[in-house]
Amino acid sequence: MTEAWSKSAWRAKPRVQMPDYPDTAALTAAEAQLAKYPPLVFAGEARALKRQLGEAAQGRAFLLQGGDCAESFAEFNADIIRDTFKVLLQMAVVLTYGAKVPVVKVGRMAGQFAKPRSAPTEVIGGVELPSYRGDIVNGFDFEAGARIPDPNRMLQAYTQAAASLNLLRAFSKGGFADIHRVHSWTLGFTKSEDADRYKVLSDRISDALDFMTAAGITSDTMNAMSTVDFFTSHEALLLEYEEALCRVDSTTGLPVAGSGHMIWIGDRTRQPDGAHVEFARGVQNPIGLKCGPSLSADDLKVLMARLNPDNEPGRLTLIARFGAGKAGDHLPRLIKAAKEEGAQVLWSCDPMHGNTIKSASGFKTRPFERVLQEVRDFFAVHKAEGTIPGGVHFEMTGKDVTECTGGLRAVTDEDLSSRYHTACDPRLNASQSLELAFLVSEELSQRRKDLARKAV
Ligand code: PEP
Ligand code: CO
Repeated sequence: MTEAWSKSAWRAKPRVQMPDYPDTAALTAAEAQLAKYPPLVFAGEARALKRQLGEAAQGRAFLLQGGDCAESFAEFNADIIRDTFKVLLQMAVVLTYGAKVPVVKVGRMAGQFAKPRSAPTEVIGGVELPSYRGDIVNGFDFEAGARIPDPNRMLQAYTQAAASLNLLRAFSKGGFADIHRVHSWTLGFTKSEDADRYKVLSDRISDALDFMTAAGITSDTMNAMSTVDFFTSHEALLLEYEEALCRVDSTTGLPVAGSGHMIWIGDRTRQPDGAHVEFARGVQNPIGLKCGPSLSADDLKVLMARLNPDNEPGRLTLIARFGAGKAGDHLPRLIKAAKEEGAQVLWSCDPMHGNTIKSASGFKTRPFERVLQEVRDFFAVHKAEGTIPGGVHFEMTGKDVTECTGGLRAVTDEDLSSRYHTACDPRLNASQSLELAFLVSEELSQRRKDLARKAV
């Protein structure tokens, strides 16, 4: 039997990675204000996403999840949202082409503000200050006042998320994402072999569309081609914000996180008896769970039972993030645990968070080759285990940044300083994202051929 749940029950559980607000009156006032605001997403949309993820868990769709490591208040404008959205659309086209199944598109957008940190404080030049925890909590500047957690930042994050979502909805449904515009989603600076490959692919898609029109398939029946479903997601780390936006779905009478369509639990906050698992288990949204090297099979079993007691397909996405060369050491035991429980889960691969290093030039970076390697490892383990590689999870941006080294338009250690803009972890730029999408697409296409051969 599952224990009773309430949206504030997490408060009685051990919490980690959350700020202690010095001004409790201001915190209460901000929470009360947020609780009155409309939810950002509609419960029916979260249910639709859950259904689509259920399809991905069974290999009939594929999840593409990506966006900033941390959204920031300073780097917020329409062009940034548009360009990240464009890259995700391009990646989705490339993946659909290889996988021949629908690609479920989920942004790390419109709510990805709170960050877990490896240390509670940061020391620079002998000065120690609390760590930056994302713009929803405190300021990035290394200055004592900026680092004090300010609850009013939650209201600014809400406003930014609402405006971002508004634009994303307009792009998804208002004609921008029409497949006939497949050529227009490229970005001026992505000149590389992959940009050429994308052009060849989009030419083929355009030809196919022209053929369909000539064959009498009218725009009515083509409606599905002129819009996309696009969903939002973020790490549900700041539970005061999550609780204040939690709503009861009028259709089902059940609680839903109103802060985004999908929420996930980070690798540092997945304690089975902790506050974050407690909050997530009671909302109806699809839930992600980051699975790093320290996750034991026993803990995973407890977490699967707690987070998905009804074993609902699409409810739980396990996001593997081990580091290049390490999936083979960890993924098989977790896959075995899921098999033993008969658990319905969607396996996704985050090749970013296990591959962060400090470069010789002092920047936090991720060698692109290692990112690619972890994706290959993930597919190889699933092939060996006979299970389904159902999705990918990336930190990327449409901006022409130099944060991860490598790629066809090679970014070197020395280049990192030229356009290093992230508020947190290093992201793939547009051309690295496209290159990665081609690799995943090839893996998916190979998998499809292997299965077809087996079926004969
Ligand atoms: C993240 O996704 O930004 C993150 C911090 O990941 P993880 O919890 O896997 O380290
Ligand atoms: Co990150």
